[in-house]
Amino acid sequence: MCGIVGYIGPREAYPIIITGLKRQEYRGYDSTGVALINRDGLQVYKKKGKVAELEETLLGKPLSAHIGIGHTRWATHGEPSDRNAHPHTSASGKLAMIHNGIIENYGQLKQELLNKGYTFTSDTDTEVLLNFIEEIKKNNKCSLEEAIRIALKRVAGAYVILVLDADNPDTIIAARKGSPLVIGIGKGEHFLGSDATPMIEYTKEVVYVNDYEVAIVKADELILKNLGNERQTLYITKLDMELAAIEKGGYDHFMLKEIFEQPHTIYDCLRGRLDAKAGTITMKGVQDNIEQLINANRIIIVACGTSWHAGLIAEYVIEELCRIPVEVEYASEFRYRNPIVNKGDVVIAISQSGETADTLVAIEKAKENGAIIFGIVNVVGSSIARISHAGAYTHAGPEIGVASTKAFTAQLAVLTMMALKIAKEKGTITEEYYSKLLFELEDVPEKVESLLKNADEIKTIAEKYKGASDALFLGRGYNFPVALEGALKLKEISYIHAEGYPAAEMKHGPIALVDENLPVVFVATKDAYHAKIVSNIQEIKARKGKVIAIISEGDEVIPGMADDVFVVPPADEIIAPMISVIPLQLLSYYIGVAKGCDVDKPRNLAKSVTVE
Ligand code: M6R
Repeated sequence: MCGIVGYIGPREAYPIIITGLKRQEYRGYDSTGVALINRDGLQVYKKKGKVAELEETLLGKPLSAHIGIGHTRWATHGEPSDRNAHPHTSASGKLAMIHNGIIENYGQLKQELLNKGYTFTSDTDTEVLLNFIEEIKKNNKCSLEEAIRIALKRVAGAYVILVLDADNPDTIIAARKGSPLVIGIGKGEHFLGSDATPMIEYTKEVVYVNDYEVAIVKADELILKNLGNERQTLYITKLDMELAAIEKGGYDHFMLKEIFEQPHTIYDCLRGRLDAKAGTITMKGVQDNIEQLINANRIIIVACGTSWHAGLIAEYVIEELCRIPVEVEYASEFRYRNPIVNKGDVVIAISQSGETADTLVAIEKAKENGAIIFGIVNVVGSSIARISHAGAYTHAGPEIGVASTKAFTAQLAVLTMMALKIAKEKGTITEEYYSKLLFELEDVPEKVESLLKNADEIKTIAEKYKGASDALFLGRGYNFPVALEGALKLKEISYIHAEGYPAAEMKHGPIALVDENLPVVFVATKDAYHAKIVSNIQEIKARKGKVIAIISEGDEVIPGMADDVFVVPPADEIIAPMISVIPLQLLSYYIGVAKGCDVDKPRNLAKSVTVE
C-alpha cells in the first residue's frame, strides 16, 4: 500500500517521479504528492486524487530540481484529503517525508510531542514520526541520519520512509522495515521505488533494502547501514523486466491486457519446467527439498485473497495426488492464532506481490516453529521470495491491474506441477495419470487462447446482467474455489455484491436469495460432479433464478436449462480451474466497464497490501 518514488542525480527529478508514481498507482491512489529541493528551497505539492490530477495542477510551477521524492497514498491514518496527503513537512519546514506503512505507537509518540508544544496539521502517523525525528535531531544536535536511526529504534510497526532535508540538498535518507524498498543504481544517479517499475528504463542494477536498514543516498554514492550504524554490504541484483511489460500495449485497461496475456504467462510458467514427452518436471526448489516434501506430515498453505483461492485448489490437488494432508489458512488469521506448526510441516506461502504484510508475518511465525517455507511468488526479489527457504516464481510478469488475473492462473500452474512432481517421487500417482496430466497441462495455453477468441460472448452476457445488485457463484469440487474467485472478482471490479458457495451448500441458506432478479453463475465444467451440479441448476431454475453456466465443450444437458452459457475446452478436473476461471475474469471486467467503474483501480483497494 502506498507507492514511493525518489530520484537524485543529474536528470530532472520531477518527470521521473511523476512517471514512477503513475506506474506505482496500483499500490494506492487516493492522494498524491511530491517534494523537490531546488534553488528556491524545499517545494512540496500534494493533493487528494490520482497522480494525473496533481500533475495538471502543477503546470507552470517551478519544478526543475535534481533531487525529489513522491508518494501515491492508500489511506491508513486520516481520510484521503489534501492535508493528509504526503509528503509531510516538519515543524521547522526543513524536512519532508513520505511513508508507506503504519506506525503503531504513533499515539504515544504524538502525546510526547504534544507535551512539548508541537501542533499537527494532518491526522497521519507520518507527520508524527517526522516531527519525532526532528525533535531528536534538535535535542541531540545530531545529523538527520543519526536522528532517523534513533527514532526508528522507538518505532513499532512497518515503514518505508524517504526523507529530504532542505539544509542538505544532496542526500535522500531512506529506511525500511516490513515494506518494500528498491534502489536503482545508475551512473552518478540513484532511483528509489516501492518496486523497480520507476527505474527500469534507466538501470537494470538494483539493491533490495532489508528490514532495519537505513540508506544514505547521494547522486554518486549509496551507503547502507543498520540501526546500530554499521555499514552493510550492498547486494546488487540484475533486473529482468522490460518497459513493454508495464505498459498497456493497446488495450483499454491493464486488467484486459493481463487476462489476454494468460496463454503466454501460463506458457512462460511451464517453460523450462514441464516436458510432457520426457515425462519430467524440473523445479529446483522442489527437487532440493524433495525429502521434506515427500515426508511432510502436513502442508499448511498461507495466503490472502485470490492467492488464498489458488491455495484452496492446491489443497484438493495435493491431497488427491500426493496423499498429504493440507490445510489452507488466511494468513491474517494464522498470524494471530496460536496455530499448531511442527517440525516436519511444510508451509507454502502464495503471493503475487510477495509483499503482503499478513502473509509475511505468517511465514515468520511458521519459521519460528521450525516449518520449512516454500514461497510461490510472482514478483522477483520481493520480501516473501527472500525470506522463504525455497520456492518457485510464477513468471507471470508484472501484474498492474489491482484485480489479480494472470497471477492466479500462473499460481495454479506452479502448484499443479509441484503436486505432480511430489506425487511422482512419492509413488502416489499412476504412470498413466501422471503422463495424462502432464500433456493436459502442456495444452492449457492453447485452450486458453481458443476460449479468449470468444470473449465477445461474455461481453454480451455482461451487458445483460450489468444492472444486477447481487450475484451468486456456485461450483463443486475443484470448481468451488473458482466460484469464490469469480465472486471476488465481480465484487472488486463492479461493486456488485457477490457470494461464492459450494453448489450443494446453497440449500443451507443462500437459496433464500434466489428470485427472478438474481443471476447465479455456475462453474459447471465436466467432472465427477457434473450430474450433481445439473440438479443444482434445476433447483435454481425452479425458483426463477437466472442461470449463467460455464460449461465444457460437448455438454448437451446444461444449454437446455441455463439462460446463458459460455463453452470452454474440456480438461481433466485437476486442470480445469486454470481454464474455467477465465470467463469469470472477463465477466467481471466487462460488467465493470459497462458500469463505468475504474477497473484497474477499484475504489478502496490497493494491489499490494503491505499493512495488516
Ligand atoms: O500479492 P498477494 O497475492 O499476496 O495479494 C493477496 C490479495 O491481496 C490479492 O489477491 C487481492 O485479493 C486481489 N485484489 C484479488 O484480485
